Amino acid sequence: MHGSSKTQMLRILVVDDEEHIRTSLSIFLQSKGFEVDVACDGREAVSTISTQEYFLVFTDISMPGMDGLEALARIRTISPDTEVVMITANLELENAVLAMRCGAFDFITKPFYFDSIEATIGRVLAKHDHENEARRMEREKEKLIYEQKAALDTTLAFVRAVEEKDRYTKGHSERVARLSVKVAKLLNYTSQDLERIRYGSLLHDVGKIGVPRDILNKPGKLTKHEFQVIMKHPDVGVRILSPVTFLQDTLPIVLHHHENWDGTGYPHGLKEEDIPFDARIVRPCDFYDAVTSNRSYRRPMPPEAALQMISDGKGTLFDARIADVVMKVIQKDLARVSPPTPSPHPSP
Ligand SMILES: [Fe+2]
Ligand SMILES: [Fe+2]
Repeated sequence: MHGSSKTQMLRILVVDDEEHIRTSLSIFLQSKGFEVDVACDGREAVSTISTQEYFLVFTDISMPGMDGLEALARIRTISPDTEVVMITANLELENAVLAMRCGAFDFITKPFYFDSIEATIGRVLAKHDHENEARRMEREKEKLIYEQKAALDTTLAFVRAVEEKDRYTKGHSERVARLSVKVAKLLNYTSQDLERIRYGSLLHDVGKIGVPRDILNKPGKLTKHEFQVIMKHPDVGVRILSPVTFLQDTLPIVLHHHENWDGTGYPHGLKEEDIPFDARIVRPCDFYDAVTSNRSYRRPMPPEAALQMISDGKGTLFDARIADVVMKVIQKDLARVSPPTPSPHPSP
């Protein structure tokens, strides 16, 4: 610690009514690179500390006027971050113990060795480092929580914007997100990866903001041209979200949630392992919710039929391994919503 740039900036106050102690301690501390001020009693110490910042105070306990214990109490109030080390004659050990109870960092008995002064300063600095580190971590944590909240707020605003436009997809994004997260959990995603899946699936259809309302809500079959317009929604979604820094890792889901395992999907016709894994999870979840919910062009399909379609789509539309997990999650959800009714007892 000696002579480091850190100690250069640190200031210590020495409080003692005996001049030779003030002087010798000051000279020693200055030789170690500290800025040092002195005060000859508690009153002077308190007035000095009200105008100047100190990381450490060495104070005698018995002094005329305001003694070290009273000074300690005042310093703790005026400058709670300043550590106070009591200097005490052997006879005053009881007072030293009392001082520790009142928040003193440590005490040193007279006559003291400079080695023990140095060791005490080392402990104060270590405590400061530890506290600074704890504060830094706390700030990091707060920043992360703030960013996550901002990401979620932004995401939900995008989702609302789509749903305002396309009433048939109301709730679709949330349902797809819930299902995708459950599936990803079974695939051992970490909590950070789950956040990405959650946000990505909430946002997967955000590009529908760019599709004209009459196409989105058209009853009946779409023309080829209209379908081509719909097929642009993954690209549009990426264009909308790319300026949002904290949503960058959701883009593969937004772009590729209509890719098929056999390469027949859009927009890039990616195949098998080339399709980002996140997007392979969202694909069957999105499919299931789309076919089981009411759309402008058809009525909802019963869950059992939709499950059969997922099963049939293994290896063509969907990654078979993921499709199996999706079906398992859906079956479990269905069983919870409507538990099987016990068969009635046959009449005697
Ligand atoms: Fe979509
Ligand atoms: Fe969708």
